[in-house]
Amino acid sequence: MALILGIESSCDETAASVVRDGREVLSNVIASQIDIHKKFGGVVPEVASRKHLEIINTVIDQALCEAEVSLEDIDAIAVTYAPGLVGALLVGVSAAKALSFASGKPLIGVHHIRGHICANFIAHKELEPPFVCLVASGGHSHIIHVKDYTEFEILGQTRDDAAGEAFDKVARVLGLGYPGGPKIDKCAKDGNSDAYSFKKVSFGKDNFDFSFSGIKTGVINLLHNLDQKGESYKIEDIAASFQKSVCDVLSDNLIAAAKKVGCNKISIAGGVAANSLLRQTIEKKKGKMDFYFPPLILCTDNAAMIACSGYYEYLKGNTKDMSLNAIPYLGIDLK
Ligand code: KG4
Ligand code: ZN
Repeated sequence: MALILGIESSCDETAASVVRDGREVLSNVIASQIDIHKKFGGVVPEVASRKHLEIINTVIDQALCEAEVSLEDIDAIAVTYAPGLVGALLVGVSAAKALSFASGKPLIGVHHIRGHICANFIAHKELEPPFVCLVASGGHSHIIHVKDYTEFEILGQTRDDAAGEAFDKVARVLGLGYPGGPKIDKCAKDGNSDAYSFKKVSFGKDNFDFSFSGIKTGVINLLHNLDQKGESYKIEDIAASFQKSVCDVLSDNLIAAAKKVGCNKISIAGGVAANSLLRQTIEKKKGKMDFYFPPLILCTDNAAMIACSGYYEYLKGNTKDMSLNAIPYLGIDLK
């Protein structure tokens, strides 16, 4: 039996969690900074670092307290060290290093995207690799072949904006506010998704890369044209049509990539995995494939997923020393 303390601070959530044997969540504390960044229309990195610093010790204490364990009971401390905002990452990494040094417990560095994928292991106790996972968040859009708990191959990725970034930017031009994903998701429910069509980019039959900047620009141009002509329109129709275009591309590429590698298990992870249409679209298109997705609370940033990924790294003996540093850009294959 292993108890892992997970720590996450890569963007605008300060989070800590205690997880038993990788899959059983004993506590999952998340302090979100969304209300602070909302007024700026996006995450302000320097503000994020300062807020993490103010609250991280309290969040860690709360996670231990809610799990009814002490630091002595913990077997290893897992922390997100890459990728993310470097100042934000540094707060979590420094806290984890200090706790590891003081307690003598092993330190484990977790890749944030590996963590997102692990949210599926927490939600589905029976799920084991191999499977193909779409990870779509504010900073990443990847299709990953999860070959083993610590072995990953990138099958496709975005060539420009991340899917969540496109949701956030389009929400901003539609005047819906930040974060854009949930706002568009809600607004689109009252719109007609066939009202407008946006050009989808394909990079060829066996290429599973994405491009979202064209769809985003399509929305901006459409709005300009409608405004210039003085035509009336419904924001809901634009939101619904945009969302449909993105969800079609994400689900088509995920399913095609899984077929290509001969895998009949697919999953989604990351903030955009919370999107209701994405879930419905994959459900509709997946045929006989098994489809796994995490509950909403495990889609967006949290530390339970980091503790889960840390557990599997711990089993492999992948511990770090005090030279562990924050790395803003790093592939899931650690290259
Ligand atoms: O994984 P996450 O919490 O942080 C990053 O690692 O980036 O993802 C945040 C992103 C934001 O871009 C947000 O707009 C998007 O996930 N998001 C959604 C939804 N909920 C959050 N996008 C589409 N539909 C949603 N329901
Ligand atoms: Zn994330």
